Amino acid sequence: MSSELKVLLTREQIAARIAELGGQIARDFAGEPVVLIGVLKGAAIFLGDLARQIALDATFDFISVSSYGHQKLHSGEVKLLKDVDQSMEGRNIILVEDILDTGLTVSYLKQMLLARHPKEFRIAALLDKKSRHTQPIEADYVGFTIPDVFVVGYGMDYAEHYRNLPDICVLPSGENLEGAPS
Ligand code: IMP
Ligand code: MG
Repeated sequence: MSSELKVLLTREQIAARIAELGGQIARDFAGEPVVLIGVLKGAAIFLGDLARQIALDATFDFISVSSYGHQKLHSGEVKLLKDVDQSMEGRNIILVEDILDTGLTVSYLKQMLLARHPKEFRIAALLDKKSRHTQPIEADYVGFTIPDVFVVGYGMDYAEHYRNLPDICVLPSGENLEGAPS
């Protein structure tokens, strides 16, 4: 692993914040069932931890999208690779995303899922790079607002690496991973 990685958020900080978010979601939906829709792959770990902090009947679904272009920059196009498996009509949906960057991915998914007439639609984002938004989108549940840095770990990757780091770390700009981490 690269020695250049710097911890931004520790596993303890992440766990404490997710417990708060889970409590808030359980209060907001007060006894009603919810469907957690994770955006693959980055949100998988967040969804797993968040779900266990929500004291409600919570079911899971997953969606997969790709954005074209350079790995670190969003090109502005979003393509659906895998849709949810269930009907969303009349359900309480919480879209679970690792990070809101430009907001393009979540804006696209919000539009798509709202068209299916859920009862409620909410967005949970572990991280929010508010200064980077190009879309008028806000998450209902935000773990942490972070500056414009590229982060890895806790599900988030650079070229598919680092997803399994337990802490959220900053990848220094200029890092060039043409394959495995050094
Ligand atoms: P958006 O569509 O620009 O909001 O980008 C959202 C997606 O870009 C996230 O779900 C991540 O997959 C990816 N992304 C944005 N910033 C980072 C980062 O700092 N680290 C890892 N992935 C990121
Ligand atoms: Mg993602």
